Amino acid sequence: MINFISMEDFSKKQLLNVLELAKELKHNPQTNLIDNKIIATLFFEPSTRTRLSFTSAVYKIGGKVLGFDSPDGTSVQKGESLRDTIKVIENYSDLIVMRNPLEGSAKFISDFSTVPIINAGDGSNEHPSQTFLDLFTIYEEQGRIEGLKIAFIGDLKYGRTVHSLTKALSLFNCEFYFIAPDIIQIPDYITTDLDKKNIKYKLLNDFNEVINNIDIMYVTRIQKERFDNIDNYEEVKDSFVIKKSNLEKVKENLIILHPLPRVNEISIDVDNTKFAKYFKQAANGVPVRQALIGIALNKLNFEKLTSINKTILSTNTVICKNSKCIAKNEETENKYILEDGIKSCYYCGKKIN
Ligand code: CP
Repeated sequence: MINFISMEDFSKKQLLNVLELAKELKHNPQTNLIDNKIIATLFFEPSTRTRLSFTSAVYKIGGKVLGFDSPDGTSVQKGESLRDTIKVIENYSDLIVMRNPLEGSAKFISDFSTVPIINAGDGSNEHPSQTFLDLFTIYEEQGRIEGLKIAFIGDLKYGRTVHSLTKALSLFNCEFYFIAPDIIQIPDYITTDLDKKNIKYKLLNDFNEVINNIDIMYVTRIQKERFDNIDNYEEVKDSFVIKKSNLEKVKENLIILHPLPRVNEISIDVDNTKFAKYFKQAANGVPVRQALIGIALNKLNFEKLTSINKTILSTNTVICKNSKCIAKNEETENKYILEDGIKSCYYCGKKIN
């Protein structure tokens, strides 16, 4: 079964395979691709783009949608577990798209679900379908992905889209600039992985140092809802505002991306410049998600996933230290990964020792 849980699960060839399928669907719509299959969209967190573009994608390729846009009004309010919720809904649908605030929750449900799972965002961890549409937009706008210089600006600690996109772009020999206040800089587990792969990156506090040398500016919102301490949010909330006046000497091929929603980090005077591609990026969510659904339902040709050779163990007790991990919030098999003597949580990926 093909699930879309983490960008770590895909090779470069598979990523390009998805982009080609999405391009085909964008230019040659297939109105009966999934033939009345039922897609469950389970959103335990707010969403505009992801939920509605999945819904639009399903309708446009001949499927049907059921689900919810908030856990309010579901039996989660009565204390039903995520495991039981999925064990029930798998009988009502052919594919589950889930957004959940707990990190590792998509990985957790993919282990026992009898229908494929697409992770539509698991807390601050990953957002793979967003990454596929980000890659699609980059490929469409730049004509290549290989060797590009990208600056990530904003909330790099909690920004799941940044985490997933960095993992994907690390397969394309890209160069990274991570620009954020120290308290919301890119997590160590991401830079450790870049170090392992010998990939060039810099951590910076000011975008002016690189703005005229980059091919992609990827801006993100500071995510108030993820902060444990509101004072920390207040301290960094207005750290960056990209204005038209910042773009006077940028490279001609620069594209500005943002997963959206935007709060104040890109001024609206940027919207009418040739660099702004964020609304086009959001529009690309439809054909890209059509491709992901078609692959997951075995309606499109896709090279099979190869299992990654990792040692997976489990214990009788909860060992993950991340309070936002599914393993800390619901009974799991407490699995962990042992690699080079280092333990990390099987679900959320965070180091344990
Ligand atoms: N980009 C994104 O995930 O947007 P939504 O939160 O509106 O789905």
